[in-house]
Amino acid sequence: MGNDFNTAQKQWQEKMKKTQVRFPERKETFVNKSDLEIDPMYLPQHEALHDEYMEKLGFPGQYPYTRGIQPGMYRSRFWTMRQYAGFGSAKETNQRFRYLLDQGQTGLSVAFDLPTQIGYDSDDPMAEGEVGKVGVAIDSLEDMEILLDLIPLDKVSTSMTINAPASVLLCMYIAVAEKQGVPKENITGTIQNDILKEYIARGTYIYPPKPSMRLITNIFEYCAEDVPKFNTISISGYHIREAGSTAVQEVAFTLANGMAYVDAAIESGLKVDQFAPRLAFFFNAHNNFFEEAAKFRAARRIWAHLMKEKYGAENEKSLRLRFHTQTGGSTLTAQQPDNNIVRVALQALSAVMGGTQSLHTNSRDEALALPTEESARIALRTQQIIAHESGVADTVDPLAGSYYVEEMTDRIEQEVWSYLDRIEEMGGAVQAVEDGYMQREIHQAAYEAQKKIESKDDIIVGLNEFQIDEELNADLLKVDEQLEKDQVKQVQQAREKRNQAVVDDILNQLREAAKNPETNVMPYILESVKAYATVGEICNILRDEFGEYTGA
Ligand code: 3HC
Repeated sequence: MGNDFNTAQKQWQEKMKKTQVRFPERKETFVNKSDLEIDPMYLPQHEALHDEYMEKLGFPGQYPYTRGIQPGMYRSRFWTMRQYAGFGSAKETNQRFRYLLDQGQTGLSVAFDLPTQIGYDSDDPMAEGEVGKVGVAIDSLEDMEILLDLIPLDKVSTSMTINAPASVLLCMYIAVAEKQGVPKENITGTIQNDILKEYIARGTYIYPPKPSMRLITNIFEYCAEDVPKFNTISISGYHIREAGSTAVQEVAFTLANGMAYVDAAIESGLKVDQFAPRLAFFFNAHNNFFEEAAKFRAARRIWAHLMKEKYGAENEKSLRLRFHTQTGGSTLTAQQPDNNIVRVALQALSAVMGGTQSLHTNSRDEALALPTEESARIALRTQQIIAHESGVADTVDPLAGSYYVEEMTDRIEQEVWSYLDRIEEMGGAVQAVEDGYMQREIHQAAYEAQKKIESKDDIIVGLNEFQIDEELNADLLKVDEQLEKDQVKQVQQAREKRNQAVVDDILNQLREAAKNPETNVMPYILESVKAYATVGEICNILRDEFGEYTGA
């Protein structure tokens, strides 16, 4: 048996005192509208319940972290309100970033267009028709400088949803920070950098699994040394869920991928406590409120056990599953779009009740187009109302002790463990992905879910019940076709402005480095972006050396 209840409670009090230095509690006292005081957390009153409490839940900020990874959770600091944004040119996206920060957003989240995500420059024939469409077009360091203009990178943490070219965009971010006088040791943020879920569900992969895992572990090693405050991966369940998985599969496949990254990092020679503190996760929040809140609590407990018992991690920061949540894009309906504000509010609430560290709330019009400024503002206001008006952030893990939630947390945990055992028997997540196992499980779940909607076993308000006659003519955001032409011109001018001999030389060095699997390519990529080599040029060098993945 680990700590006993009273010892753990004392440790919790000590941790809370330490936390106060950097994150004092948000209020002197927390009271509700009847002026009744709210305790930091609620605990089983009877001693007879203490052992089970310690085994299953533990104190917040303590192993196995079921109740949350921080001792005071949102009493000390709200989750980061981090709206995913990006469209068109770097200039337009910079304006949206600054608007959202002015409206009270507390973290940045960059959406890149598909050409950037798949390592093509805007003037590559493969990019035609997609430049600036689903995110911002970034070709060279010049675009990154515009994207981050007037944004203090020593104060703002930035998430970048970038996978196959994650190394390139991270190096661009480092280079912009250095131009602002912010050393790479001080920058904070996250790169998604999760290639396995790209093979499974999202599709923005470039290279085959082996070289992709090398790039990822190169980033782990480089950041552990040089960029210690940056989260090196956001192991994602969001897209797995959006592809149609169940909540159980979302957690199971994500944690299985997480183990594959840990295995690859250890195989590359890293010690688990060297890189694990900077592993992060990214989950979805769909409509079933209690299932989602229980899912997050189960995921935290499973990961803590895996890291401690399977990998022998000792640093407590290696044991804590820290995650971002995005509300479920696939639950949004094109019909009666305002109904989506309610769905997103309930989904966001489930993520908060599940202890998320960072949250994106979808906009009501995203089943139809990228969000307008007004829709994005309502989405952010949804988070702010939950934080400041609902009271749910005033005590830690308020659902703890609920017969329903604890039972559901246990059952989700059991289901996830049986998936993890099955995947281990197959040889792990990489093998399971290459065999198409996870993909088949997801497609089957998606098929079953769709059948329930068609049979009306599952009611989706406005879609298969309570419909109205309506024109879907909401004022949607449109990306100006002229943008692609302007961006193409911009990247061509950027190439003309730079010192081509320097670019050629550093790209040749990168090629040599890529040829040798023992070499970390990150320093060469950093020098390449500083010389204004483009995303496409760098990714094409790696295409030559690594080849391209053609799918399971
Ligand atoms: N008590 C004490 N300390 C606290 C605290 C508390 N209550 N709350 C926070 N802190 C501390 C943390 O420990 C941390 O300090 P540290 O780095 O020194 O440990 C600091 O305050 C910042 O807190 P967090 O790290 O918890 O919050 P962040 O927001 O910085 O990071 C994260 C959250 C989940 C770890 C990080 O990985 C993150 O921001 N992820 C975001 C990922 C994202 O936005 N993805 C979008 C993807 S969009 C997409 O893919 C969908 C598209 O395809 C459709």
